[in-house]
Amino acid sequence: SIYNCNVIELPKIHNRAGNITPVHGMREIPFSIKRTYYLYDVPGGETRGGHAHKELHQLIVAASGSFDVTLDDGANKKTVFLNRPNYGLYVCPGIWRDLSNFSSGAVLLVLASMKYDETDYLRSYQEFLNFINGSRL
Ligand code: TYD
Repeated sequence: SIYNCNVIELPKIHNRAGNITPVHGMREIPFSIKRTYYLYDVPGGETRGGHAHKELHQLIVAASGSFDVTLDDGANKKTVFLNRPNYGLYVCPGIWRDLSNFSSGAVLLVLASMKYDETDYLRSYQEFLNFINGSRL
């Protein structure tokens, strides 16, 4: 459920010359990292996401700028604003997500538990509802 998807504070190694945030699978976050990707050059007003995953775990970080992540487990919704590189939103499997309100220059970094697999996507909301209702039985 969305109550398992929380913001995780990541380490920040700070000095006069700036900050470093290291992230290890199974240490700061509850899964092993198999893939990383980042979204950038999102035009103003554009939204992304609009899907769920069957098995994939993700950590979403605002590496630069800010945006909103709206999570929906079929029963409840919440919107999380991300704007700091040392905080990440953990998104467990079976959660519909919408990404919106990207600031200019925003970079949305994703750490993911699996390689890209189109068959892991639930791309329509009805397919998502069928999936979560099936897994509840
Ligand atoms: P998608 O995950 O739907 O984007 P978003 O949720 O940000 O709107 O991916 C968009 C396209 O990019 C889709 O055709 C698949 C491709 N893609 C890959 O080939 N590899 C990847 O790791 C990702 C995340 C996407």
